[in-house]
Amino acid sequence: MQQISDIAALRQQIKAWRQSHQTIAFVPTMGNLHQGHLSLIEQAAELADKVVVSIFVNPLQFNDKADLSAYPRTLDSDLAKLKASACDVVFTPTVAEMYPQGDMAQTIVSVPNMDNRLCGKDRPGHFDGVATVVNKLFNIVQADFAVFGEKDYQQVLVIKQMVADLSLNIKIVSAPIYREDSGLAMSSRNQYLTADERRKAAELYQALLAIKDKIQQGERDFASLEQHAFQHLQQQGFKPDYVAIEQYQGVSQLDLAEKTDLNQQIKLADPLILLVAAQLSKARLIDNIVCDLD
Ligand code: PAJ
Repeated sequence: MQQISDIAALRQQIKAWRQSHQTIAFVPTMGNLHQGHLSLIEQAAELADKVVVSIFVNPLQFNDKADLSAYPRTLDSDLAKLKASACDVVFTPTVAEMYPQGDMAQTIVSVPNMDNRLCGKDRPGHFDGVATVVNKLFNIVQADFAVFGEKDYQQVLVIKQMVADLSLNIKIVSAPIYREDSGLAMSSRNQYLTADERRKAAELYQALLAIKDKIQQGERDFASLEQHAFQHLQQQGFKPDYVAIEQYQGVSQLDLAEKTDLNQQIKLADPLILLVAAQLSKARLIDNIVCDLD
């Protein structure tokens, strides 16, 4: 595995692969790698001949600067994990390499109607930061495929819409949420929690399963299910941002020709997605599950 930190050197490597007709799959990350990230790399290796992973803690997507400085940076152990994986090149640019004009003077890519729903509401500007860095990384890496985790469901929607709207020549593939044995979705932010808090954090997944159960038993008052779960989580010591029941946008098989209106009425025949975001102690946690109606 090669580690490359400058854009020009990465472009050279990509060009060489292209000349020998190798296909490329790309996995963007912010490092602090766990099994969830590694599962995306495994998926990438099945899709293409070469796998590029990026590690870049992107200042543009942190609306809270304290969150940016606290974000765990663990390059040495990340490199060890990547060496043991199917990664061929890890791209580790500096902030100056990515944003030479400074991150305030950077052209921004903004996917509409994302700051007024789900995580966008609580993290203004976050998805502009994500779309901008991912667009830039796509232009640098020139991959055939990019793999994203469904844990960040809204992020997948943002990337898919950006790719469609800007006619980017890349196929977006999404991978299922990788969970700990307790059901807790793996996340770099889990390490802000104590062992006790980590046990409690698994309640988030339980709350989603409880909603799914009620829906599958015939409950159709979604507003009251959301409200009930929200209050339940508050009683458990979480500070929930939202519990939301939405039409599932089929991130795995999303037909881009058929872009769905995000505010449409829920169609009961189609699968739903149950989403939650909540603060527990020092960590903001998100999770989701897909819910078939029968
Ligand atoms: P990061 O949080 O490091 O996540 C990198 C990728 O790993 C994302 O696609 C995310 O959805 C996926 N991932 C995280 N936890 C997962 C889990 N438990 N199971 C499966 N996949 C999981 O998401 C970002 O970085 C950034 O926003 C980025 C896209 C790199 C842009 O800066």
